[in-house]
Amino acid sequence: MIEFCGLQLQHPIVNGSGTFDAIAARRAFGDALLADFPFSAFVSKTITLQPRAGNPPPRLWEAQAGMINSIGLPNRGLEGYLEYDLPQLAQLPVPLITNVMGSSEDEVARLVEAIDERDEVAAIELNVSCPNVRTGLDIGADPRSLAALVRAVRPLARKPLIVKLTPNTADVAAVAAAAEGEGADAVSLINTLRATALAPSAKRPWLGGGTGGLSGAAIRNVALSQVAAVAGRISLPIIGMGGIASGTHAVDLISVGAALVAVGTENFRDPCAGSRIASELKSLQIRH
Ligand SMILES: Cc1cc2nc3c(=O)[nH]c(=O)nc-3n(C[C@H](O)[C@H](O)[C@H](O)COP(=O)(O)O)c2cc1C
Repeated sequence: MIEFCGLQLQHPIVNGSGTFDAIAARRAFGDALLADFPFSAFVSKTITLQPRAGNPPPRLWEAQAGMINSIGLPNRGLEGYLEYDLPQLAQLPVPLITNVMGSSEDEVARLVEAIDERDEVAAIELNVSCPNVRTGLDIGADPRSLAALVRAVRPLARKPLIVKLTPNTADVAAVAAAAEGEGADAVSLINTLRATALAPSAKRPWLGGGTGGLSGAAIRNVALSQVAAVAGRISLPIIGMGGIASGTHAVDLISVGAALVAVGTENFRDPCAGSRIASELKSLQIRH
């Protein structure tokens, strides 16, 4: 057992938000999914206050070593999440972390307050890769915007608050320090790197959303660098992620300062990746 923000977890491997649909997996695999759940905690995909349809297709581009997605955070909105998704996610055999995002302090406050009331949820992850409605810059790109947001919402949550940082910033450690300074309990990183794919013949953006986010093997070394920079600056526990596909990759992120490791893009190739990586990690830790 390991302890993370007061949660007791069987092993250090969790999922990256939006990369494993536990409700669809339960439909596909039935109760076998619950008997051998791949992660020690489950992170929901991002929910927003209002329902979102997501971006127009195409939404995915296969890059040479990873993929670019412009899914656009489709979700049922807060009310739909509480009514349809939460009762199903509450049946999972592991603690539930609900990931939320809003484009203003007021929106985030309403999400945090509503989720904090629910006993089914163990912790809240705040996705700050969202443009600030006033400045147009991503909230998580700027230490001052992020500090203001965390200062406003921190008092509203009794549950642990994890801030999911964006890598699309000049100084990720400064942003992490702002989150720590305002009372976050943990940080998670990295989210996807902003990226563009061009349609092969027409030389215009391929993805319906225009730009997208690069994930997978291509960003693994960026994740190592950013997790190390954040670990060198703050003392909060870190959930590290970015291109993790094996126990060796997980060991690397832990060795630069991650307390937990999240698996994202690899889940699309292998839905059992979480269990495989957890057992590879265990063997490597025993050997060393
Ligand atoms: C298809 C897809 C959907 C994602 N959806 C979300 C999301 O809803 N919220 C979020 O915070 N991150 C989301 N992410 C980012 C991942 O959680 C993770 O931070 C990122 O992909 C890096 O890890 P990886 O290289 O292992 O995929 C998404 C990533 C992908 C590939």
